[in-house]
This record gives sequence, structure tokens and C-alpha cells, in this order.
Amino acid sequence: MSEATDYSRETENLDNCDVEAAYARWAPIYDLTFTAVFRPGRRALTAAANKADGPILDVGVGTGLELPMFEPHTEVYGVDLSEHMLRRAAQRVERERLSHVVGLYKMDASRMAFPDAAFACVCAPFVLTVVPEPEAMLDELARVVRPGGEIILVNHVSRKDDPLAALDTWLDRHVAPKLGWRPQFPWSIIGDWIDQRSDMELMERRLLAPFGLFTMSRIRRLPLSQDVDAPVMPAELEYA
Ligand SMILES: C[S@@+](CC[C@H](N)C(=O)[O-])C[C@H]1O[C@@H](n2cnc3c(N)ncnc32)[C@H](O)[C@@H]1O
Repeated sequence: MSEATDYSRETENLDNCDVEAAYARWAPIYDLTFTAVFRPGRRALTAAANKADGPILDVGVGTGLELPMFEPHTEVYGVDLSEHMLRRAAQRVERERLSHVVGLYKMDASRMAFPDAAFACVCAPFVLTVVPEPEAMLDELARVVRPGGEIILVNHVSRKDDPLAALDTWLDRHVAPKLGWRPQFPWSIIGDWIDQRSDMELMERRLLAPFGLFTMSRIRRLPLSQDVDAPVMPAELEYA
């Protein structure tokens, strides 16, 4: 796979333009800067995703640093908004012969071109703090994951006892668009979203190294029979 396929839709969203511009700048130095600090998060996320019984979607795949951590028996698709990052991911797939990676696409995580319920597991490593509308992205992840499947997020979640809280606030106010991510990210964005969805349940919320700076959230889309909004036919009305 030498080129990423372009499935993006036109967008006027200035924030997405900020993100694309930021990751065009990050791409050449991304691996040097972020390989080690994000490694524990990528390891935890891929270990959970490798248990999926079906195709896995890696949202915000970036330069593909987590792609070699998915096991060879898996079937992995990746999407990213940044062509510069995707090109590096495609080069990694070729260089490291990652035959379990079956497709890399340029797509906005909030408006993907995949059909409903296409994936057994949808992962988003270090992405939710990057998108302008995290709830819209979560809705889209929920759309493409199968009932019974899992959404796995890893990202920075702000904490009151966080030693870096003051720095987060300062960065948020002054340089977030240039950085290409939102340093301040309260848990309520994820927690409130789960509470509003009758078809989602939180399975695990785990602090990760280094220093509990990142959180892994595993969210299950309930199987249809457990979705409280789904119509349940009384047994006596079932057809023989
Ligand atoms: C911090 S990087 C994480 C990359 C990779 N997952 C990793 O662990 O190194 C965030 C990635 O999300 C991508 N991204 C940002 N907004 C996006 C969106 N709306 N749709 C898809 N990808 C997006 C960025 O281009 C960037 O590659």
C-alpha cells in the first residue's frame, strides 16, 4: 500500500484546518517526539483491541506507530484527517510488511464513509482531545461499531490533582490551535456522552503511564437485546 486513499468530505471547518496545518508541521518530527511518551497507551489499547472478534478501526492512525502492535491475525483499517501523517503510516505498512493493515483512508473521524456497525472494535488513540467536536466523533464511533463491540479511547483527561493542570490551562488559552490539540479535557465530555446513550456502557476507565497522564476508556455498545430503547417483542407474540 503506497498511497492513502482519499475519502474525505469537503469541510469549511476552520478548526479542522488548524488541525491539518498543525499535523503537517508535526509529521516530520512526530515519531521522534511522541513514540516513547504515548507507548504505554498504545500498548494498553492494542492489547484490548487484539481480543476483538472481527475488523478493527484505528481512528486518527497518524504515522501508524500502533499498527505493528496489532496482532497478525487481526484485520485493521486506519483513518486520519492529515494526509502528511497518513503518508508516513502507509510507508510504515510497506516497510514493516504489516499485512494485517488492509486499508488507510483520509477521512474526518466525525463523518466517516463506513457503513453502520462495520467494526468489531473502534480505537481512537490520542485523538479525542484533537477534534473540534468530541461528542460528534463519539457518535460516529458508536455508529460504526457493532452491537456487542467496543470503543477504546486513550487520551489525556484533566484531573484536579494533576501536577500539570496550570500548564494545561495556560496552553489551552494561548497555543491550542498551533499545537493541534486541546490540553484541557474534562472527563465529563466522555462521561456525559455515555450517560446520554442508552446503548453504551463504560467497561473500564484506567489511568496509564507516564504518571497517570493518560486514561484508557473501554466503552461497549450493548448487544441489541440489551439496548433499553430497542423494541423487545413479548415471547407470546413471537412467530413459531
Ligand atoms: C496525537 S495524534 C495520534 C496519532 C496516533 N494514533 C498515535 O498514537 O501516535 C492525533 C491524530 O489525529 C488526527 N486527527 C485529528 N483530527 C482528526 C479528525 N477529525 N479525523 C481524523 N483524524 C484526525 C491527526 O491528524 C493526528 O494524526
